[in-house]
Amino acid sequence: MDLSGSSEGPAFRVTPWEVEGEIDYDRLIEEFGVKKIGPGVLRRFGEPLHIYLRRGYFFSHRDLDKILDDYYSGSRFALATGRGPSGDMTIAHYIPLEFTRWMQERFDADVYIQLTTDEKFFVNPDLSFEAAEKFAEQNALDIAAVGFDPDKTFIFSNLEFTKIYRAAAKIAKHVTFNTARATFGDSVLRNIGWSFFPAVQAAHLLLANFVDGPTPVIVPMGIDQDSFLKIARDVAPKLGFPKPGAVHSRLLSGLLSIGGKMSASQPDTAIFLSDSPEQVKRKIWNAFTGGGATKEEQRKKGGRPDHCVVFQWLYTLFLTDDKEVKTRAAQCRAGERFCGACKAELTRYIVDFLEEHRRRRREAPSLIGKYTRDGKLASRSWESV
Ligand code: TRP
Repeated sequence: MDLSGSSEGPAFRVTPWEVEGEIDYDRLIEEFGVKKIGPGVLRRFGEPLHIYLRRGYFFSHRDLDKILDDYYSGSRFALATGRGPSGDMTIAHYIPLEFTRWMQERFDADVYIQLTTDEKFFVNPDLSFEAAEKFAEQNALDIAAVGFDPDKTFIFSNLEFTKIYRAAAKIAKHVTFNTARATFGDSVLRNIGWSFFPAVQAAHLLLANFVDGPTPVIVPMGIDQDSFLKIARDVAPKLGFPKPGAVHSRLLSGLLSIGGKMSASQPDTAIFLSDSPEQVKRKIWNAFTGGGATKEEQRKKGGRPDHCVVFQWLYTLFLTDDKEVKTRAAQCRAGERFCGACKAELTRYIVDFLEEHRRRRREAPSLIGKYTRDGKLASRSWESV
């Protein structure tokens, strides 16, 4: 979706491969034709809500109301989410996975996780086939450490689980080249692997249907991935499947500017799951805040928590207590709380989180086989794919 500048706001662009400019989420909701998550949808999740829902990090959806209503009247759904293995994973990549794990637990759903090794190879001119495969292998360990139910979760790379090609072929026949180009822009013209790839991700989004017959699917994902869902939703009825739904997240702000990008080529904008405590400390220390230029100025004028990456990360990811959030914001605005305190707090949360993640990741190599066993969820056959 390419939104030019107008009276309604400055230009920005959101596609699966490019995010540019400061995103106006309300405009995005309108242009994508998705719905805001309101109290009615939140109620359908039941209590207690995940912090990512309470704080509006997951903020829009497609058909969640319908699929959850059907769930309560006895119709199960599956979950699908994925990872493009173009490098080491960051905290931002972890979020949709953790959210998917939580939904699996709450709704007892099968989970399909696709590693798009092929996509990253097609899209990134500097990424070799071997390097992409190596990242996929490493990323799979991080994913296995998230804690999915091994009996209900299938993790696969498109280059390994070649049955995905059967589903992709059945989808590709229904997607004209013009549709692909209109949905994704001219980038799909760059090589024919890229042109075909949307069928492969759409195949993932519908995979539960190929395995089990018609099955509603919910896809937790960054809003930038929505175009793939559009393709899957167009094709689903032609194959006799229900349209898959989605729950979309915002894109986590990079550390160096509010609303800015987290970029693998600028490691200081992101926290990687492999960062040492010293690296975390340094990166958070250098993060952009809403504080004054000097302590004196901040004491006089107060800070701006709504313009602060450190506060946003605390608020979105870690500070579960609403009262504490309010107190901190009020103290900051009044010039009574300084950036050092918030930075130290965020550093502590992240260091603890990473330590726990790495502990689980060390156990992942012995677990990974359970998630990938020759293409089977515990009791399923893949004959029908
Ligand atoms: N294309 C995604 C990426 O580059 C990976 C992916 C595959 C995905 N299937 C998905 C992401 C489903 C979200 C939901 O990261």
